[in-house]
Amino acid sequence: MSFNLKDIISIRDFKKSDVDYILNLAEDMEPIAKSQKVSHLKEGKLLGVMFYEPSTRTRLSFETAMKRLGGDVVGFNQKQGTSVQKGEVLYDTAQIVSQYSDALVLRHDMEGAARFVADNVDVPVVNAGDGAGQHPSQTLLDLYTIKKSLGKLNDIKIAIVGDLKYGRTVHSLVYALAMYNVEIIFISPDQLRMPDEILDDLKKLNCKFSIESSLIENIDNVDVIYMTRIQKERFPDHKEYMKVKGQYTINKKNLENTDTIVMHPLPRVDEIDFNVDQLDNAMYFKQAFNGVPVRMALLDSIIK
Ligand code: CP
Repeated sequence: MSFNLKDIISIRDFKKSDVDYILNLAEDMEPIAKSQKVSHLKEGKLLGVMFYEPSTRTRLSFETAMKRLGGDVVGFNQKQGTSVQKGEVLYDTAQIVSQYSDALVLRHDMEGAARFVADNVDVPVVNAGDGAGQHPSQTLLDLYTIKKSLGKLNDIKIAIVGDLKYGRTVHSLVYALAMYNVEIIFISPDQLRMPDEILDDLKKLNCKFSIESSLIENIDNVDVIYMTRIQKERFPDHKEYMKVKGQYTINKKNLENTDTIVMHPLPRVDEIDFNVDQLDNAMYFKQAFNGVPVRMALLDSIIK
């Protein structure tokens, strides 16, 4: 198996063999991610991180991944304190940081920003989330988590719940799931349904899916519940957010007598009660850790 992508922009650029390559390599990276083994694989290399939007997991796990591989990191985690505040445009900032580093990781509020930067710099670029667009490294760690938890990626049923309209994690995830024999149930407020163009793509990809309204009735019906946050910051009108806020929540009692695992890209607001954290079904913190070996696999594959 080999991996030939230069940039990690959209999961739609991946072939199934690319996905499987990264998931297998991530498994090899686990002892390094857990500090049981020291790596010098990327010694002398620098990762440039450009985060125009807030992040905890993506930024810190990319930084951890690079440092665990023996490399180092430069960059910024907010516009404040950079020349973006003086009016510098994304193109110029990317030119500069790309000359200081061997690969870029970019999070930006504008859909298409990562593709734009990748087309205009010489180093590999990773999309760490572009508005409501894509979040491919999240998708790979989601698949890795499912595979580790259930022992397979085929013949599973997954409920994807919450903000399906603006959620870039789920916009990425469904295209990857469509590579496997997976059945998807979409559960969301009506206003936050999965966009029609994505549903049309899933039909073309022969991915089996249905749209339902009740989360509770489907808990026992699936292997995975993938919860997402209703993203207040993406709503053009705050009143619209208030109408759908808190519509889908899950607690410990809902999960009694089921093996269904609960995933969430995090951060959570009120979708998953804290009492779920004690259950073996709660996979979201392990999922966040899995971002380290998966991102190590990605960095190792694109930084030469
Ligand atoms: N899952 C995720 O993208 O989390 P952050 O926004 O904290 O990076």
